[in-house]
Amino acid sequence: MKVSYYGHSCFGVEINGRHLLFDPFISENPLASDIDVDQIPADYILVSHGHYDHIADVKRIANRTGATVISNFEITTWLEKEGVEKVHPMNIGGQWAFDFGKVKYVNAVHSSALPDGSNGGNPGGFLIDTPQCAFYHAGDTALSMDMQLIGRQCDLCLAFLPIGDNFTMGIDDAVQASSFLKCNHVIPMHYDTFELIRIDHDEAVRKFRNAEVELKFMEIGETREI
Ligand code: NI
Ligand code: MN
Repeated sequence: MKVSYYGHSCFGVEINGRHLLFDPFISENPLASDIDVDQIPADYILVSHGHYDHIADVKRIANRTGATVISNFEITTWLEKEGVEKVHPMNIGGQWAFDFGKVKYVNAVHSSALPDGSNGGNPGGFLIDTPQCAFYHAGDTALSMDMQLIGRQCDLCLAFLPIGDNFTMGIDDAVQASSFLKCNHVIPMHYDTFELIRIDHDEAVRKFRNAEVELKFMEIGETREI
């Protein structure tokens, strides 16, 4: 499995010959100005919730690649009206077997209005279960007890967790989340993009290390084999 970081909460994951892309927010992210949004591969685009910093480049990338967009019902319906052709609607707690593995749309504690004010349904995260690796992209969320359910139900090899605080979990709550999830390999997201979510990287690494969890920051543009 190959993981590429495109900034903020946007990751590309290549698994079973398919390219998954999570929460694309690239063309308007000043930290990701070196990334060419029109070169990013995608067979599936997974959108955790309706906020601009997770959905901004969905239409552009879906139109170029013909990717199927996976999100909650309200968001996929809105995207269809915006001209996105292939969508797969889900809702919280539901799972579907795609050709690369199973996807479960799980609870996130956050909000989800779409950029034009439309109802973006309930925010979520994604649990991806494949024979090689089960992993979790939390979307934007607070720490929640529901994360314990994920830890009980599957053996995660990796979790993408927000750590920027203010709008989502901060460092301390993300450490607690990794314990609830029973996952000792975390790639952080949703930090440094805006003034309100700047964090101290050394503090984050130290606090996760004290909890015996490996926190692996990725450079924007970096690709890593997991
Ligand atoms: Ni958000
Ligand atoms: Mn966000």
